[in-house]
Amino acid sequence: MSERFRNNKGDLIIGNVNAASLVDEFRTPLYAYCGEGILNNFKNFSKSLGSLNFNIYYSVKANSSMAILSLLAKEGAGADIVSVGEMHRALRAGILPSKIVFSGVGKTDEELREAIKNKIGQINIESCFELNKIVQLSENLNKKVNVAIRVNIDIDAKTHKKIATGKEDTKFGISIKNNDAENLYKKISIHKNLIPSGLAIHIGSQINDISLFKKAYLSIFQFAEYLKGKGLNVPNLDLGGGLGIDYKNLNDPNFIEYGKLVKDIFSGKDFKLGFEPGRCISANNGILLTKVIGIKITNKKRFIIVDSAMNDLIRPTLYNSFHLVEKISKKNEPLSAADIVGPICETGDFFAENRMMPDVKEGDILAIFSVGAYGASMMSNYNTRPEAAEVIIFDNKPFLIRARKSIDELLSYEVNPFE
Ligand code: LLP
Repeated sequence: MSERFRNNKGDLIIGNVNAASLVDEFRTPLYAYCGEGILNNFKNFSKSLGSLNFNIYYSVKANSSMAILSLLAKEGAGADIVSVGEMHRALRAGILPSKIVFSGVGKTDEELREAIKNKIGQINIESCFELNKIVQLSENLNKKVNVAIRVNIDIDAKTHKKIATGKEDTKFGISIKNNDAENLYKKISIHKNLIPSGLAIHIGSQINDISLFKKAYLSIFQFAEYLKGKGLNVPNLDLGGGLGIDYKNLNDPNFIEYGKLVKDIFSGKDFKLGFEPGRCISANNGILLTKVIGIKITNKKRFIIVDSAMNDLIRPTLYNSFHLVEKISKKNEPLSAADIVGPICETGDFFAENRMMPDVKEGDILAIFSVGAYGASMMSNYNTRPEAAEVIIFDNKPFLIRARKSIDELLSYEVNPFE
């Protein structure tokens, strides 16, 4: 369980810093990340791919903190982005434009223009209208653009419906059936301003059955070979992200097994590969610390009400996802069922339901695990709550990377014409 994050007294430690001292210094709700842990995952992911020719584009949406992007950039990471906002984050964090891949199902004219002007490495298109926009812009700006096609191979990624992107009834990619993708690729290949960059695929997120990656990668490989057979240039294959993590036991992802699968398919083949991992790099290196506001015992349940809420971490609400929740100082105590909930006015505002928990008192600090991906990056201000603050621990020291907004700051963007 969480033992790897605890010292021998049972206290929660993040990157050699005691969680209790983080709370003293930075208060709650607080996201705390372990910088070295994130880098290690990145390095292990990279190592698992051996001598293949590849780039790793960290998926910025998983954790968009510029501090984390900077750490990864120094290790040679690129970025998978889905908006012009993410593009500017990545550039400001020191990621080279040539190492940025722009994904997403609907890029606006402004976003494409910015991407082209900034010489972004590759734009993955997902529809004919995107290609038309790019053609127009590349002509107006008189610029060359590297364009790849995200393909849809109609595969069930066997993950939560809301994060499965591989089936043909989703909005993602261009079907490889009926020559759809082939015809589009030909169009890219003959246009004077477009450079055919290859193919991309991303079948979903939190995928734990890695045989599904094999199926997907074989399929994109075969399609790329087919296009090559037609005389087309297909230099890059972007294999997306999606490698799942262990939310229950917090074990490291099996990078070695994943790398072997990729090497078995692509070793000795003439493609440069791209990877867009997000979750498997950062999720288990982030913890959300929250203080207990009070305990409410009803006829039916024990509710532990905390000062963080679904606006800080929406995954349980949105996907019914499991996150381990424990007191920051763990002792051998008797357990009984409780719901751990936030103060927001919705029954859906919970972190855990019917969870076996020890006795918990007002003022205790709880840790919610595996929130280093799709935690802070999905925060909102619902119920006019400022976002949680964020710290990263690196080299045994905590650094504040997102300050908590004051209510004045939060309200300062609003305009009231009727004052
Ligand atoms: N590449 C593309 C094109 C993607 O759409 C995604 C994630 C990734 C890479 C990174 O996937 P990862 O390696 O992190 O699985 N909010 C959800 C997850 C949404 C994933 C969206 N796309 C959650 O909290 O589970």
